[in-house]
Parts: sequence; C-alpha cells; structure tokens
Amino acid sequence: MAKKFGCAQKNVRSLLKKAQLAGLKVEGVSFHVGSGATSPEAFSRAIRESKMVFVEGCKLGFHMNTLDIGGGFPCETVTNYCTLKFSKVAEVINKALDEEFPPNEHNDISIIAEPGIYFSMPSTVLVANIIGKRVNGKDCKTAPNIEYFINDGNQSSLFIYKTANGVTPVAMPVAPKHIDAPVLECKVWGQTCDDDIVLEECELPDMDVGDWIYFTDKGAYSSVYNTTFNGFQPRPILRYISRSSQERLEKLTLGDAFQ
Ligand SMILES: Cc1ncc(COP(=O)(O)O)c(C=O)c1O
Repeated sequence: MAKKFGCAQKNVRSLLKKAQLAGLKVEGVSFHVGSGATSPEAFSRAIRESKMVFVEGCKLGFHMNTLDIGGGFPCETVTNYCTLKFSKVAEVINKALDEEFPPNEHNDISIIAEPGIYFSMPSTVLVANIIGKRVNGKDCKTAPNIEYFINDGNQSSLFIYKTANGVTPVAMPVAPKHIDAPVLECKVWGQTCDDDIVLEECELPDMDVGDWIYFTDKGAYSSVYNTTFNGFQPRPILRYISRSSQERLEKLTLGDAFQ
C-alpha cells in the first residue's frame, strides 16, 4: 500500500509544515501494513517510522496523541491466506511499542488498531451450487477427472483469489454422504462466460448437478465483490450464531463476559 498512500520519510517534515500552514491539527499517525502481511517486521518498521513522525510533529508544536496501527493482523485460516501466527505478530508489535512508545514516557498516547480479517475471515463460508458437470476420461484406464461448474466465481465472491498471489481457495462438499467419499481429481469453474477458473486442481468426490460445495474463510473480501457481471444477481447472505456464542455476546453487551 506504500506505493499508493502515505509519504516518504524524507517528506514528513515538509508535509507537517504544510499541514501547519493550512491550519490543520495533526494529532498522530495511522498506518496499514497491508492485508495478508507476510512479515511481522512490517509492523515494527511502521511503528519505528511512526515514532519519527511523532518526534517531528512534536517539534512543530503539534500535540501528537494517537497511533493507529491499522489492520493486516493474521487469523487462523484453512486456506493459506494467513501464514503468520497472531501471537508472533502481537509479540513483535508489543516489543516495538515498548521500545518506541514506552508507557512511562508516552502515557497520553492512545494506541488503536483496525483489525478486519482477524475477526471476519474465518467466520463465514461461501456455499455454492453445482450447476454443471463434465466427466473426462471415463473410458480411459486412468481414473476419470471431473470439472464442476458452480453458481459463483472469480467475478464475484471468489474475486480475492485473483489478487491474493499464491492463495488457493479450499472447497469441500456439504452433504455428509460426500464428506468421507473417495475423491477424484477435479477442476472448478465459475458461472460466467469468462475463462473463470476457480480451482485449477483440487480433490472432490463424485457429486451431481444440484449438490453443494462450500469455500472456507469467506468472511472478508467476498460478498463486497459481488457483481452482476453476465446478469447474475448478488448472492444472499445468511447469518447463524451458535447458542454458546450468542450467550457470550449477550454477556459481553451486559459487560460481565470477563468476570
Ligand atoms: C483503513 C483500513 N483499516 C483496516 C482495514 C482492515 O484490514 P485487514 O482486513 O487487513 O485487517 C482496512 C481494509 O480494507 C482498511 O482499509
């Protein structure tokens, strides 16, 4: 994101001066290391650079009181979207904060974060219907392979996989009878007239048109990408909550969840 937003360290002072001339009240720094960040050091580097901005801001008389460390926190995913452990990232962040903004010197600074995928990504699955099927190699000696066509795809809820390099969606069958069934080599295509391959290579059981599969980790960067390309309408969103989570949330709203 650094190519699009923010300013180079060498321009910080002049930018702050411009803000001052414009009568703006600069109160802090906000950064975002990028969703799916692959290095915890991205956070510590940004915290160190933020400290330099704080120093420059204070020199110019601004009351610097907020550090926003943005999003990009990893969560546990079935896909390979998150490769880092949250605990590792938290450790690196806490160390950098202790070094650059020690509480005894900076007790008037609010440190806030904007976790997105951390909360949302594993919360949701995308359920897709098989609307077409092609079986190849039926008459050969080798095992047949199957191509499934589904009612979603890269032009919609699965768009993220076009931009998230090296991240592969994980698809699983919904019906209990398919879960332990033998698997075959498969391909999964989207529904549009585009060349929208969702999964070039995966293992799924032999299912029929009308059966359902689901994709894990679809609580972030999914329904927001729903388009009506080729005239397909956005997919409905169904919300479920387990009784235990509901009870915990109810307690949270009453403020006694941690008692
Ligand atoms: C300004 C801002 N903050 C936080 C987030 C959440 O980021 P993430 O989902 O990587 O945690 C985003 C994501 O688009 C964002 O644009």
